[in-house]
Amino acid sequence: MVRSALSIGVLSATVLLGGVALTSSASAEPGAAAAAPSKAVRYPADSLRALGDRIGLRIGTAVNMDELGSNTDYTKITAEQFSSVTPENVMKWQLVEPTRGTYDWAPADRLVAFAKTNKQLVRGHTLVWHSQLPTWLSSDGYTTTLSNDELKALLKKHVQDQVKHFKGDIWQWDVVNEAFDDDGKPRQTVWYKAWGGLGYIADAFRWAHEADPKALLFYNDYNLEFTGPKSNAVYDFVKTLKAQRVPIDGVGFQGHLDTQYGFPDLQNNLQRFADLGLKVAETEVDVRTFTQAAPNVNTPTDPLAPYAQESYWSRALKACLAVRECISFTPWGFGDTYSWIPGWFDNPQEGAALLYDADLKPKSQYYVIQQDLALAAGAPRRNGPGAGH
Ligand code: XIL
Repeated sequence: MVRSALSIGVLSATVLLGGVALTSSASAEPGAAAAAPSKAVRYPADSLRALGDRIGLRIGTAVNMDELGSNTDYTKITAEQFSSVTPENVMKWQLVEPTRGTYDWAPADRLVAFAKTNKQLVRGHTLVWHSQLPTWLSSDGYTTTLSNDELKALLKKHVQDQVKHFKGDIWQWDVVNEAFDDDGKPRQTVWYKAWGGLGYIADAFRWAHEADPKALLFYNDYNLEFTGPKSNAVYDFVKTLKAQRVPIDGVGFQGHLDTQYGFPDLQNNLQRFADLGLKVAETEVDVRTFTQAAPNVNTPTDPLAPYAQESYWSRALKACLAVRECISFTPWGFGDTYSWIPGWFDNPQEGAALLYDADLKPKSQYYVIQQDLALAAGAPRRNGPGAGH
């Protein structure tokens, strides 16, 4: 139990930590006993990151670089609540090389610098994907005017240059994103077609490993949470990668959940991938539900929906907590205003998918997650008569 003389944290009444001492500032290295004052990063004892520190679980968030630095509340929450950050967009190929041959690393560099200042780790997202490619390469990810040989050379250079640029600064790289369809078949992307198969994936992991041998290299996808054709296909595929000694370290479960589909058998899926000798992580969690039409896209149509959302958030976190190899839990942003959901799922309208509302105030989902994390570190022992031996 860590107790700080500087304790100023006020614990939410909904957190079952009564009587447990609160840390109010944390050392530079989470888990370390103390740090030089100049290195100390202050965050509330009841913040998600402080609670995660107690069990070695990184709590992350996707970060919107249009808000970080300019939006005071947004910036403060990013620093105080999270111990890992993922660029929501600025490390995607479309943004790092909008013009062929000219890189723009500036926004991503700014995030890496912010993470260092705030003692956060960075999930690099993402190197190989069919979506958000620069238009000079492909406008839809499935068709291109470039030749197969050109595509192969471009992908190699892209992976090597980007991983080298961030060498030493990235904890986990999403090397390949969304390479399979929901039916379990390989997605017929420009990469798949150029290689005439899935060989581009092993190549990308090898190039990334050469460029930064210390970064953890992940395959990342959605709907792996549910046992089914896609999850099974990815499971079989990463098993063959391991057998071929491809340097893959982990599998990211995006975790874009929706109350209309029921809660997946997530823990089983995390565990079976972990049993292959891989790390696992929940990398893009949000829990959407049906909402009202614009402008109220974050108001659920069903007043009971928030209870389902609380339950999904809690179970998504607990699935990670139950699997020792699950090393990070990352919601895809934290304020409903900045969520990609209302813009993406608008027929019918969905939203209200994150832990903070449109005013950046924590929602009940936040307090449920906070309480789960607090309990994961251990409930305080009862004192007094009847407490046993
Ligand atoms: C989304 C971003 O949140 C949006 O801002 C962007 O317009 C589209 O991409 N899976 C992923 C993420 O791996 O990169 C996506 O992020 C959401 C789905």
